[in-house]
Amino acid sequence: MRIIVDTPENIARLAAKRYVALLKEKPNAVLGYATGSTPLGLYGELARLNAAGEVSFADAVTFNLDEYVGLDGTHDQSYRWFMDKNLFDRIDIKKENTHVPCGIGMTDEKAAGYDRQIEAAGGIDLQLLGIGNNGHIGFNEPGTPFGSVTHVVELTESTRQANARFFASIDEVPTAAVSMGIKTVMNARSIIFIALGSAKAEIVKKMICGEVTPEVPASVLQLHPDVEVYIDHAAAALL
Ligand code: F6R
Repeated sequence: MRIIVDTPENIARLAAKRYVALLKEKPNAVLGYATGSTPLGLYGELARLNAAGEVSFADAVTFNLDEYVGLDGTHDQSYRWFMDKNLFDRIDIKKENTHVPCGIGMTDEKAAGYDRQIEAAGGIDLQLLGIGNNGHIGFNEPGTPFGSVTHVVELTESTRQANARFFASIDEVPTAAVSMGIKTVMNARSIIFIALGSAKAEIVKKMICGEVTPEVPASVLQLHPDVEVYIDHAAAALL
């Protein structure tokens, strides 16, 4: 695990450089993406670099970590909508090469097909991760087995509360999601992890310095051979 502590602006720039380097070497790289507030700076930087002609996503393939169950891609809180608005509509990627799990009519059997799609694409070269206040990665809540593949998840109350800020009220926050499993994430060849802000300091400390346990899903990253952890000074405060 390589830990980089910097400002949010520099983190966006440094992380974006990884994409530029990877896509230069492998234009058809398979990229794993995340949603939430954390990647917005990076996505803005990728869009800027793409517009400046410094990187092309024309042959890239993407797989997103997760999606709410019950929201289709036209819902403005669906992760498909988020990705289109914040990244895919702003870069030269082919929409048909972008994958976000389907939130409608999802079952564990159908969800596991997502892992087969990833495998068929050659596996994920670079997976982006944020972290929930309870240590979740993707929507893998505490207690999720490390051997899990893409599956349907009941969201915890703490995750629903944390995400309620994007909805009109807590009642509108879906109660379930479909998420890549821990094993799916760990199969990525390289991982970029980003955490920003003081609210993440406690869980970042547990993830990096604590016991490797399903109770802190992100702690599994201690076992991955190629993880870059980008944290701002506020998130690094307890290290
Ligand atoms: C979303 C995802 C989640 C978020 C996490 C942090 O695709 O994978 O694990 O990374 O909930 O969310 P933010 O960035 O909003 O703090």
